[in-house]
Amino acid sequence: MQKYFFICVILITLNALDNGLGRKPPMGWNPWNKYGCNINEEIVRQTADALVSTGLAAAGYIYLNLDDCWQSARDPVTKKIIADPIKFPSGIPSLVQYVHSKGLKFGLYSDAGMQTCEGKPGSLGYEEIDAETYSEWDIDYLKYDNCHTDGTSPKVRYPPMSAALMKQSKKIYFSMCEWGLEKPWLWAPPIANSWRTTGDISDHWYSFIAILEEQANLAQYAGPGQWNDPDMLEVGNGGMKTHEYQAHFALWAILKAPLLIGCDITNMSQDTKKILMNREVIAVNQDSLGKQATRVKKVLTSEVWAAEVADNGAGVVAVLFNQASIQESITIEFDKLGISGAQNVRDLINQVDLGQSTVSYTCQVPGRSAVMVKFRSVQSEQ
Ligand code: GLA
Repeated sequence: MQKYFFICVILITLNALDNGLGRKPPMGWNPWNKYGCNINEEIVRQTADALVSTGLAAAGYIYLNLDDCWQSARDPVTKKIIADPIKFPSGIPSLVQYVHSKGLKFGLYSDAGMQTCEGKPGSLGYEEIDAETYSEWDIDYLKYDNCHTDGTSPKVRYPPMSAALMKQSKKIYFSMCEWGLEKPWLWAPPIANSWRTTGDISDHWYSFIAILEEQANLAQYAGPGQWNDPDMLEVGNGGMKTHEYQAHFALWAILKAPLLIGCDITNMSQDTKKILMNREVIAVNQDSLGKQATRVKKVLTSEVWAAEVADNGAGVVAVLFNQASIQESITIEFDKLGISGAQNVRDLINQVDLGQSTVSYTCQVPGRSAVMVKFRSVQSEQ
């Protein structure tokens, strides 16, 4: 009882970080899942060009973020962070300018420790000077990792960077990455715009499934300005089948996850492009209510995740997800979705209307696939 009272108090008192950013989950690109440490300014410029020329930017993917390995050292006198002169010979400010000139936003990465996970200089103890540098460089987004720490809690090490960013004239989205270790959803909303809820994703079906499982009870902590982050997208990296990537994307969209593409977008297949640019699926992620999906049904390997949406006609969106390798029939009862009466049903992935249903909806879902449907009350449309 005491525990529930404590949680309620926290929910009532934790307002989102007051920087006005992240009212919708951020969308963009990050090199880590594809390139790891092998990043350079040429890749960044080509990616900026591709975000625009492919239409990804117009579809909403506007953040171009760097991850680990852009830094090399700290200036021994000024203590300012220095970009790797071999990988980034033009320096970060000129790259930021280039990215901004394309109408995109630019993100950087650092770590709440002495070093980043790849052994580059971290920001612990240098929060003020680093935040000033980011603002001076016109950075829009900071991902803040959790390696090589001094052993203190993230609850101690993350607030100083948040406070330092808030002091700057430039508003900077703050993305916490402590891997869900200390249940950041319970304490991070006032200091961050999003927080990782798990360890790293990898380009495998079972990694995606394991991470999904950990999102089941987190919906109540998300909303405009404060998002749970189940890690970046693997769509297009080659380790999963197209229908598996489609399921990964649909589920990340309905979970209101930050949609950060992790593949080489200068060389995408048509299938990858189709998944990433699906307007109706993206609209669920970017819905103005900002409600993260909850798992409303689970029977062995079949599950249904659902969330209310407000835009393009209010309704409820559900993802019927089959984890088994063979086709399964999945039924969702309308009372589990909090809806009643006849509903118009639309398949959002294929963008087709499927007619009307009452009481429940049943669908044959192929193995390792997801069907994403939107239910809208027939009565409210008349
Ligand atoms: C950690 C993070 C990853 C990535 C790497 C970079 O593992 O969780 O997302 O940023 O560090 O080293």
